[in-house]
Amino acid sequence: MKVVVTGGLGFIGSHTVVELQNEGFEVVIIDNLSNSTAEVLDGIVAITGVKPIFEKLDLREKSAVQDFFKRHNDVHGVIHFAASKAVGESVGNPLSYYENNLNTLIYVLQELEKKEVANFIFSSSCTVYGQAETMPINENSAVQEAMSPYGNTKQIGEEIITDISKVSAINAILLRYFNPIGAHHSINIGELPTGVPQNLVPFITQTAIGLRQELMVYGDDYPTPDGTCIRDYIHVVDLAKAHVIALQRLINKNNVEKVEVFNLGTGVGSSVLEVIHAFEKMSGKKLPYKIVASREGDITSAYANTDKANTILGWKAALNLEEAIDSAWKWEQKVRAL
Ligand code: WQD
Repeated sequence: MKVVVTGGLGFIGSHTVVELQNEGFEVVIIDNLSNSTAEVLDGIVAITGVKPIFEKLDLREKSAVQDFFKRHNDVHGVIHFAASKAVGESVGNPLSYYENNLNTLIYVLQELEKKEVANFIFSSSCTVYGQAETMPINENSAVQEAMSPYGNTKQIGEEIITDISKVSAINAILLRYFNPIGAHHSINIGELPTGVPQNLVPFITQTAIGLRQELMVYGDDYPTPDGTCIRDYIHVVDLAKAHVIALQRLINKNNVEKVEVFNLGTGVGSSVLEVIHAFEKMSGKKLPYKIVASREGDITSAYANTDKANTILGWKAALNLEEAIDSAWKWEQKVRAL
């Protein structure tokens, strides 16, 4: 069965391609290489021995999207990762975020609405909840006003998918990720942030390897036990496996609604300082860091209620924070050794 993975050479996309191939799917990757490199294909092949079809294509070009789906008209599903994802960057470049994250989504959906059957998995984010009222966060928690254009594109994207699914054959599953971290245990693929990492774990590993002077901890006066923000850090391989399960659910017509929503996290909240200490314990290295002012737009706490994914998808995160950090560290050392 052929499956299209947009953004398939990215961090979560590449790990999902591996898990799709492990399940016997034929994978076609679309990626414009704006935030990834074609070498990621070598990493995928090193793991699975199977080279996915790769088409370098910018989904902002409507005609290119139409042409692609004319040539690949035997597609059983689309997993849509392609999007810009830096929260801070989106504040300064809102139009590029709305164009890249929404036009591309619309052009892909316009091709799928022509089909008799269309299975669509959407890469969404816990960011749609903003600062949820209660922890852990379940799928019925209110979607609150987005704190950034990036977060808004995820909210609007979910609404677009919901609207088109009502009047077409499109069935969709919206996967709301918490904080993806780590790397495949083979360390043939992992996270490759471009420029200065925005996210905590890649900044930690780049500091530990000597690429960065010290980690800035954005605030320690939050209303949490140690004053630093709490997040749900989920291993990217666990996240990837959930995408395959969700796609199979749609292909097997086991979905009970046209659009289903699942939180993907471990259910465990970890503070910034707890992540730092976990890294130090695992690596045996002291991490240089300093407490600075809190970061605009950060929420205090977010961790998932995973009951729905556990019971309905039959999926549960198998790897914990330490294992995820260990894999991220091993990957960082490999990448810098090249
Ligand atoms: C985690 C915690 C920071 C860096 C965002 C998006 C989410 C997803 C992941 C795309 C926060 C603190 C961070 C640093 C720090 N994006 N931190 N120093 O903001 O929870 O989530 O990225 O898929 O949709 O919202 O992740 O890793 O940036 O921050 O102290 O150098 O680490 O303040 O408390 P975030 P993050």
